[in-house]
Amino acid sequence: MASANDCVVGGWDIRPTKLGQALYNCRVLEPDLVRQVREEMDRVEIMEGVWDPSFIGESQHETATHVVSGADNTSTRARVDRIRRDIRSWKEKHSVDGHVTVIWSASVERPSEAKYHSPDALLNAIHDDANNDDISPSMLYAVASALEGCSFVNGGSQNTLSPAMSGLFDQSYRQPAVPPDCALQKFAPYSSSRAFCLGTDYKAGQTKFKTAAVEYLRALGLTPRVIASSNHLGNNDMLNLTTKKTLSAKMRVKSDIFGLWQEEDLDHKVTVMYTPFIGDEKRDFVEYTSLGFLGSPHTMVTYTRCMDSILCVPLMVDSAIWCDFFVNHDVSQKDAARATAYLFKVPEGDAKDVDPGFFHQMGQLEEVLEKACGQNLDGEKTLKQDDLDLISLGVSKGIISEEQATQLRGLTPK
Ligand SMILES: NC(=O)c1ccc[n+]([C@@H]2O[C@H](COP(=O)([O-])OP(=O)(O)OC[C@H]3O[C@@H](n4cnc5c(N)ncnc54)[C@H](O)[C@@H]3O)[C@@H](O)[C@H]2O)c1
Repeated sequence: MASANDCVVGGWDIRPTKLGQALYNCRVLEPDLVRQVREEMDRVEIMEGVWDPSFIGESQHETATHVVSGADNTSTRARVDRIRRDIRSWKEKHSVDGHVTVIWSASVERPSEAKYHSPDALLNAIHDDANNDDISPSMLYAVASALEGCSFVNGGSQNTLSPAMSGLFDQSYRQPAVPPDCALQKFAPYSSSRAFCLGTDYKAGQTKFKTAAVEYLRALGLTPRVIASSNHLGNNDMLNLTTKKTLSAKMRVKSDIFGLWQEEDLDHKVTVMYTPFIGDEKRDFVEYTSLGFLGSPHTMVTYTRCMDSILCVPLMVDSAIWCDFFVNHDVSQKDAARATAYLFKVPEGDAKDVDPGFFHQMGQLEEVLEKACGQNLDGEKTLKQDDLDLISLGVSKGIISEEQATQLRGLTPK
């Protein structure tokens, strides 16, 4: 892993508030901790954000005074160019020669209506100055990241990711030499480096516990029938969600967390409330009603209090560390997505088929790490990715049987 001392943090915001001041204002950490880092954080440069007022709640409009304007804001193409220039000059200024991960930790957007069937269609729409498609700012940040060879993580609940977007991050699409009619030509020079596209919406607190609790209930042989949950908090993210258009994006991901389990008879309800007095310290009540032996009901209630941001920030750190580590170990997009599925409420793209259970997801991470490092977590050597690929090739060509492949995969190299 890269040394944490070599890590650089920067970013954009549509508010001009300095970081140390923002940390003080939001009252998440003890004042003495804030005092120790406030000045240093105030020195971090915040770049002007690309934004579109129609995508976020009205409550955020008044503070949006630190935005890209003028020639850089005349079209989707100009906005993407601006974000790309920002990334390049930030890397130069901080002498960054390692991997960069761009994380959407900005306000939740309403869903975008723009749908594209391929990366070419997405890029052509952005390049066309006359286009009026409903392209969200988060899509522009994601596209700019791919073109610069940076990974992109969708930490919010909007529909930024799509098969067309994943296609753009696919290294086989961003080849150094592409046919003249490929839309990438319009954005040359672009990066052909490995970069991942991951999301959606960090699975930070009660959602993570909910999947672990349902895993536990199912392991007991119980059948969950009703999960009724309610949370309330009063931070700025929740204020943004008081607008109906952004709330619908959040509710989609909050209700859609059991993915593969397809609990058809499960009645899963979620309510969220904005209560300014309690700030960031979220309250979460969940009642689980399940059927046990002979259909007899089993009811369990959980109550959690925790600073919302304290739950989420470690996941942001994890995602940047894993992207760097996986890029440096030539891990495929598919493996990176399944290894990081534990970070997201709705794992997308290549992580879609991963079981939503927390322990299962940890297992996926361990498997990918073992493969990437050529040893298991107890330090015993295992086969490297190249060897595993060769074995799979042997099966697909009919040279060895699946049974023989399983035996080979279990070999311990000297
Ligand atoms: N537990 C958690 O905190 C948690 C969990 C999962 C997901 N999230 C998601 O993380 C995101 C951030 O949450 P938060 O509590 O820090 O919210 P916040 O409202 O405190 O911060 C969001 C910031 O994004 C800025 N912003 C909005 N649009 C922008 C744009 N187009 N470009 C640049 N900056 C922009 C806002 O000015 C604001 O400073 C939200 O999408 C939230 O849903 C948070």
